[in-house]
Amino acid sequence: LPDSELLAGVRVVVTAGGTREPVDPVRYLGNRSSGKMGTALAHAASGYGAQVTLVTTVEPALEMHLERIVRVDTAAEMHDALRARLSETDLLLMAAAVADWQPAEPSPRKLKKHAGEWLLRLLPTPDILTALREEPARDGVFVVGFAAETEDLIDNARAKLQEKGLDLIVVNDVGRPDIGMGAEDNEVTVIDAGGIVARLERASKRRIAEQLLRIVADRLRR
Ligand code: CTP
Repeated sequence: LPDSELLAGVRVVVTAGGTREPVDPVRYLGNRSSGKMGTALAHAASGYGAQVTLVTTVEPALEMHLERIVRVDTAAEMHDALRARLSETDLLLMAAAVADWQPAEPSPRKLKKHAGEWLLRLLPTPDILTALREEPARDGVFVVGFAAETEDLIDNARAKLQEKGLDLIVVNDVGRPDIGMGAEDNEVTVIDAGGIVARLERASKRRIAEQLLRIVADRLRR
């Protein structure tokens, strides 16, 4: 199969970037995710012939020829965007770094500075991948999760694969400054229910995206 047809006809949804949970109109809780891995996946999937929807918290830098770009901020918005598209999705690549906590009472007015300490109360966000398991439209969607870990990478990723009901999980070491969150390069291990599928050596996120999609395309054809 030529590269341009590896994912021909496959409807792909990719999430990218870190969610931003508002504190007030000017402040948010966020994380170091740059959206580069998700953007690279969207780009590569498009090059392999897929119909790609990118659900992103960051403006894609490149002029990308994607079917659709959906801008979201919060975990709740990302959840809604994915739910709305699930029945038209064959492959979900969940590269976004979703916040686990959100301010309990975001203020409609800018909070003023005051002396002394300030306690901010947080509530858990929905775990999007886990919540999607309740949706009948998820049946038949091939779901790839991404695990950001600093220790026990393989064991932690395998637990997430199980809990979130994933077909594959891609784990990277976010404790290393040269790869992963915010970096230009990545180095990942791909895991399925049977164990390690592949170790992808350090390379640009574009290269890693291409290698990952080849593994996924192979599985979609089986
Ligand atoms: N994820 C999600 N919803 C959340 C948090 C994470 O769908 N509220 C997804 C991420 O997009 C990723 C996978 O779950 O594909 C694993 O995310 P990660 O941050 O590594 O794990 P958490 O589930 O947040 O667990 P922990 O923070 O305890 O490691």
